[in-house]
Amino acid sequence: MKIAPSILAADLADLVSALAVCEQGGADLVHVDVMDGHFVPNLTFGPPMVQALARRTSLPLDIHLMVSNPESLLDEYLAADPAMVSVHWEASVHVDRLLTRIRDGGAQAGVVLNPATPIAVLAEILPVLDFVLLMSVNPGFAGQPFVPYVLDKVERLKRLIAERRLAVAVELDGGVSIENIARVAAAGVDISVAGSAIYSAADPVATIGELRRLAQEDLV
Ligand code: DX5
Ligand code: ZN
Repeated sequence: MKIAPSILAADLADLVSALAVCEQGGADLVHVDVMDGHFVPNLTFGPPMVQALARRTSLPLDIHLMVSNPESLLDEYLAADPAMVSVHWEASVHVDRLLTRIRDGGAQAGVVLNPATPIAVLAEILPVLDFVLLMSVNPGFAGQPFVPYVLDKVERLKRLIAERRLAVAVELDGGVSIENIARVAAAGVDISVAGSAIYSAADPVATIGELRRLAQEDLV
């Protein structure tokens, strides 16, 4: 399983240190939560900020766009040269067009579903996705409790991907912790985002390794 620390949960006045934690801990990706104060009730990182972050790390960026009208600033976020970009199904009118733009911009393209959005909405788009990001909290804030029914959703989505012989990765975001990552891994999650579990820990660097170890333990 890949581990993607969410820097939203770090000290936002010291993001260079937050990136150093990712690098020293051996993270696979850096998860960047973009919020617009409209689709979600919180505001975070604009394009110049994300481009500046990209210049400070060699790790690939995983940009999670929690914004209304994701088409409007998409090119500016793609200018940060991210490895992955995801848009919310609930916020996107022309999902297929957005995915094409993300791919043409050189990134892997994903669709995000809120906890209450059924996976059935992916029926047509699944074959053209690189990944699906399932929210295991309601988007907007770090540090919220895990929504348990999403694990069943992960298992059903993994089955669907296998049945259709697709190579779509499943990412899980929200409330993933030392306590539940073994169950997350058992459900088949390919990439886990973790914010507070890492940045609120006494030793954030060691916690990245511990999450990875607990995720692997379950699979052997
Ligand atoms: C929530 C964000 C998550 C969040 C994860 O809206 O999309 O990425 O930062 O933080 P934790 O792991 O603390 O729930
Ligand atoms: Zn996120």
